[in-house]
Amino acid sequence: MSSTEQRARAAAATHEHAKRIATTGAAAPRDFAARDPAARGSTATNDIIVQVRCLRHVYPDRTAVDLCGLDFTVCRGQRVVVLGANGSGKTTLIFHLLGLLSPIEGEVTVFGVNPAKQFREVRQRVGVVLQDVDDQIIGPTVWDDVTFTPRALGWPRERVARAGEAILERLGIQHLRHKIPHYLSGGEKRKVALAGALVTEPELLILDEPFTGLDPRSRSELVTLLEAVSSQLRLAYIISTHEIDFVPHIADYVYVLAGPGGIALSGTPEHVFSQGDRLRQLGVDAPSLAELFASMKDRGWDVDIPLTVDQAISELDRVLTSSERKPRR
Ligand SMILES: Nc1ncnc2c1ncn2[C@@H]1O[C@H](COP(=O)(O)OP(=O)(O)OP(=O)(O)O)[C@@H](O)[C@H]1O
Ligand SMILES: [Mg+2]
Repeated sequence: MSSTEQRARAAAATHEHAKRIATTGAAAPRDFAARDPAARGSTATNDIIVQVRCLRHVYPDRTAVDLCGLDFTVCRGQRVVVLGANGSGKTTLIFHLLGLLSPIEGEVTVFGVNPAKQFREVRQRVGVVLQDVDDQIIGPTVWDDVTFTPRALGWPRERVARAGEAILERLGIQHLRHKIPHYLSGGEKRKVALAGALVTEPELLILDEPFTGLDPRSRSELVTLLEAVSSQLRLAYIISTHEIDFVPHIADYVYVLAGPGGIALSGTPEHVFSQGDRLRQLGVDAPSLAELFASMKDRGWDVDIPLTVDQAISELDRVLTSSERKPRR
């Protein structure tokens, strides 16, 4: 595929959405079996919407990317985070899911089809924000860009307006609606791309490094937004990130890419982040709280490893009020 075609497809990624949505309406109910957070780690076969098996890719300059190892699976409604050092293959994996690349070896299935071959069918059910958002913002104004997909799908004008207004408000970017995307800051562009990805309520959202360039408040707001769209719109998402401290808040299931060696580790955040030494070998840190409590444990404190501030406070309450406060050496 030429780089021009690849860019065009990348641009289309946010602008082509579900044929089903176009024909049945955005609010059409979906069958999401795994809404219970406890069940989101499950992989019942009929719930699987994304499956990647032993994928290998070779770029034209012969750079080989190994995504073999463990299978990569995403279920309906599941919140999945992909971790890995720079160059480990996160973006390459995402490009395969979007059909922007096709593997030399292995299998990629998204909503039951090969996305590289049935590009339109898959793309229409997926919203995406690429790592380089400049590759996908194509509207002359923010409003044009955000409403591109529903207009392309032939939604009535009022419905386009309602959906566009709602998503701009939800992301707090109404004030940007008349701006030329080219002049926006990096963080603003990312929010515009996210609005374009969400405006038609896709079934699967793919975000490549969505926290990059966002200020602390915008990062927290994105976490809140992801929780809201996951539970209210009932969409599954796949997020690649280096922002480890957010992972316990946004993930039901985590995959860690190793570079050579492919997908090396997977499981719930609790499982993955309990393997500090393995993570370090893979160039990934555990969340700061997990690191802190792991050090306490090494020094003899009888603590479990928390992943969130609330869990840490409960654990400290428990340890500091117990009769055996001091570390055992
Ligand atoms: N178009 C390309 N041509 C040649 N090599 C490429 C190309 N795109 C990516 N690569 C190489 O493939 C490997 C995986 O890159 P990829 O962008 O998937 O990593 P990543 O995990 O997303 O990294 P980051 O955390 O920096 O975003 C790297 O070694 C990279 O140099
Ligand atoms: Mg990347």
